[in-house]
Amino acid sequence: MQNLIVANWKMNPASIAEAKNIFEGIKNGVEGVNSEVVICPPFVYLECGMSDTPHLKFGAQNVYFEDKGAFTGEISTAMLKNLGVEYVIIGHSERRKYFAETDETINKKIKKALDAGLKVIFCIGETAEEREAGKKNEVLERQIKTGLDGNENLENINIAYEPVWAIGTGNNCSVEETKESVEFIRKISGVERILYGGSVKSENSGAYIKESGSNGLLVGGASLNPEEFVRIVKSAE
Ligand code: PGA
Repeated sequence: MQNLIVANWKMNPASIAEAKNIFEGIKNGVEGVNSEVVICPPFVYLECGMSDTPHLKFGAQNVYFEDKGAFTGEISTAMLKNLGVEYVIIGHSERRKYFAETDETINKKIKKALDAGLKVIFCIGETAEEREAGKKNEVLERQIKTGLDGNENLENINIAYEPVWAIGTGNNCSVEETKESVEFIRKISGVERILYGGSVKSENSGAYIKESGSNGLLVGGASLNPEEFVRIVKSAE
């Protein structure tokens, strides 16, 4: 299976000029690699990235589950699809934490995105408290079962395992522990392409790809530095 390496820029950078620099740096560095490379910038930079660097693939960081209408501030699946966006991240832990997303709303978003023909990067992961209480697998199973409820066709679903305690902390999950979780997630979900995310850097990225049984990476902070992101992509070759 082809590896999938995803850049999640989150709410960065502040200007279109900076965004263009990162697109350019990534474009030049990843030409001809074997992995599928997807950039998920803020919505407002998607169009610019897609027209300037058409051979990169693009994803959104979120989407809403209603078709259209009076939902101030939201973006629909049709808008993304009509723009030519291929992927969408759904259920990121920051969306769950700061924007009150639940397993149920995530389930609606996944259904809507799949119906629209978008490919989904569905994020799951336990908090430090849940892990310490020995509830990791229980949490992962609940997130998977509720998030994917009613979706029989798993073809366009990728799951990103992102332990919440490992995101943006420099405290990445060990490859051994990741391997156990990746196997568990694959078994429970039936989804084939499982990514790891959480403090991925070029020093640890190769080990996840080669030794954890995962098929790719979801990269946050390090994806804003094009040289570093390109090193991460190349570590999967
Ligand atoms: P990080 O973020 O690489 O900065 O830890 C990963 C993510 O939130 O997807």
